[in-house]
Amino acid sequence: MTIDEIKTRVAEFDRNPGWYQNIDLKNGIVTKTRRIWGEKIDHPRERWEAVRPAFPASFKGKSVLDLGCNAGFFSFAAAERGAARVCGVDYNEKFIEQARFANEVRGDRVEFQVGGVTPINFKRNTFDVTICIGLLYHVTDIMGAIMEIGRVTKEYAIVESAILESHEDHPLVLVADQNTSRPGTWHPNIPALKKMFHLAHFTRTETLFKKDGRGGIVAWK
Ligand SMILES: C[S@@+](CC[C@H](N)C(=O)[O-])C[C@H]1O[C@@H](n2cnc3c(N)ncnc32)[C@H](O)[C@@H]1O
Repeated sequence: MTIDEIKTRVAEFDRNPGWYQNIDLKNGIVTKTRRIWGEKIDHPRERWEAVRPAFPASFKGKSVLDLGCNAGFFSFAAAERGAARVCGVDYNEKFIEQARFANEVRGDRVEFQVGGVTPINFKRNTFDVTICIGLLYHVTDIMGAIMEIGRVTKEYAIVESAILESHEDHPLVLVADQNTSRPGTWHPNIPALKKMFHLAHFTRTETLFKKDGRGGIVAWK
């Protein structure tokens, strides 16, 4: 693709569905110029800084699943660390089209699939590592999704979510959105998030961070 063709496609995707993630296309072009859901223009930079300590310097030989991958930012981060196989999954076809476009322009070899999380369309223990960033609170059946992560993951999961920082008596709260037909979003506190991963057959969990209504854990099989 020529630079002009790349810029044209970036602008088309900007009109529909809009770029949620700002991805470096490695030729002086980045994808994002405006907010689509209130996120910052450099999204997911802050999220990346929060979860980066859980990413090893090398994923050499590892297979990595990026659930709720959007346009592939975290999939590309795994590919850059030398993963043998990276798959990005998102239920929104338009985001998967963006991801495939970015993959082609960047010259990466990530596989992107349209798919959901209950079930995840892969066999037991397919992936060494599962990345699940900014997804769980969107999923209606949050425990079902975590069970599925436990089923497809062999070694560990890196998880980031909206969380409750207090509410010790209410470990998992459904925050209802009165303006849409969606049921709302699930906000666990960190102990509840860890407990759900233990129930999904992860044996050890560690807190990665907790800040400003977001939190992260790493869960090991
Ligand atoms: C808030 S965005 C987070 C994207 C990315 N992981 C990040 O942190 O920048 C949530 C993503 O999950 C996808 N998503 C939401 N519910 C999903 C589901 N049930 N199955 C698969 N993807 C889902 C959305 O299409 C969206 O791309």
